[in-house]
Amino acid sequence: MARFFKYKSVADLAAENARLGIDLRFSDDFSPLAAPATVGPQTVGNRWCIHPMEGCDGEPDGSPGELTFRRYQRFGGGGAKVVWGEACAVTDDGRANPRQLWLMDKNKPAYARLVAECRAAHRAENGDDADLLFGLQLTHSGRYSYRRPVIAALDPLLDPRTVADKSTGATVGSDYPLVTDDELKRFVDDYARTAKLAAEVGFDFVDVKQCHRYLLNELLGARSRPGLYGGDYENRTRLAREIFQAIRAAAPGLILATRLNGYDGIPFHKEPDGAGAPDAHTGAAVNGWGLSAADPLVPDLAEPIRWVGDMQRLGVRLVNIALGNPYAQPHFGRPFEYPPPDGYESPEHPLVGVDRHFRIAAAIQAAYPDLPIVGTGYSYLQEFLPHAGAANVRDGRVTFVGVGRGALAQPDWVRQLRAHGRLDRTRVCRTFSYCTALMRAKNHPFGQYPTGCPPFDKEAYGAVWKEVRGE
Ligand SMILES: Cc1cc2nc3c(=O)[nH]c(=O)nc-3n(C[C@H](O)[C@H](O)[C@H](O)COP(=O)(O)O)c2cc1C
Ligand code: SF4
Repeated sequence: MARFFKYKSVADLAAENARLGIDLRFSDDFSPLAAPATVGPQTVGNRWCIHPMEGCDGEPDGSPGELTFRRYQRFGGGGAKVVWGEACAVTDDGRANPRQLWLMDKNKPAYARLVAECRAAHRAENGDDADLLFGLQLTHSGRYSYRRPVIAALDPLLDPRTVADKSTGATVGSDYPLVTDDELKRFVDDYARTAKLAAEVGFDFVDVKQCHRYLLNELLGARSRPGLYGGDYENRTRLAREIFQAIRAAAPGLILATRLNGYDGIPFHKEPDGAGAPDAHTGAAVNGWGLSAADPLVPDLAEPIRWVGDMQRLGVRLVNIALGNPYAQPHFGRPFEYPPPDGYESPEHPLVGVDRHFRIAAAIQAAYPDLPIVGTGYSYLQEFLPHAGAANVRDGRVTFVGVGRGALAQPDWVRQLRAHGRLDRTRVCRTFSYCTALMRAKNHPFGQYPTGCPPFDKEAYGAVWKEVRGE
């Protein structure tokens, strides 16, 4: 198995960058990361964002569980000034797993506790929380809903990989019914209702999730879908537009945000030698977002850039750029050193994947210099992620530096940086993918194992990891 990450210094990484012919940038001056930024009406105290990351540890009724509370205390205390709360379903049928969060009227007090504890931890460790933004990602999982796939548009490459309907056993293919326009319209109320609840329990923003090939992302690329919500650009963006408008009406003070795929890509599979390779395809993909018509392995940002501008006009004030589909090609979304169990060895140097993230976010930021953009792809850089973040913020390539797995391994990295000028080297995410492996582990009485960072958060996940591995 090829291993890539052998870098002992920024100079090593810069040399690799030159060798690979990519555009990673590094800076030792971290001051751009400490500068405040403005999101809608709010001042945000620094340029660090914790990405949305599901712990798959909610209660069956959708409330946060004890591990969920623990995670947001740790994230709140960590020092990042944007905490982007994880995927939270707007309906039971839209949950990706039986432990995914699901905010409802009857579990509001538990969510109010989650917000209060995150903010209290922030105050305790960092002083003021007036400049902390805490949001919640609202989702419908579409084809990845665990009870039954909700399919917006058929996809010849993804359909055979999609888990069958649990109750009927129906598999996704040409005779599987598409979700109807009327059913889609009803989701508008689900999003608006959940957004209003999110505002009432104290979240500062909601993210209308349009990434990772869940429902609203699939609709963005649903060129083959007939009716009001498929075909041309206007139709494919219609449901999200209706949702943004409904949320603005239902919760006027709430900041609108979105996590948007810049590029979907197509599925990859594992070759006999373990390496990843794109599924066989001919020319243009039938459906998909941000893909070049000539070659779906090449991004085309024309529509994503147009859509970000339209969303800004609809009142969206914060955009987090993601890539790919975690089930179909994990290397796009989460450049890794060790693959997840349902994955493959990285088919490209993972730094090329990091560079793809940075370039796509930079192109969108360049198109809208005044709109705060959050970038992704930093955890692969391990202890050098602050150097890349500082250079990207300095150069206006992003407004906020988003950290995913790195925050599971070392949630207090911003405080470490403040106190010592560097990360704690004993707790840096090494992109081992154990967290993704736990997400894929379902053989649990609740139908889903919780996830976190077994190597660097043994206290909470050491035993869980042993159980999943059958040790
Ligand atoms: C355990 C785990 C859970 C995740 N859950 C979510 C989620 O709820 N919503 C989302 O948009 N992305 C989710 N992601 C993706 C991350 O937000 C992030 O995009 C990805 O890990 C790449 O960033 P990184 O390289 O800093 O880890 C998850 C990732 C992991 C590892
Ligand atoms: S398990 Fe921990 S070290 Fe491994 S990828 Fe996840 S966060 Fe990083």
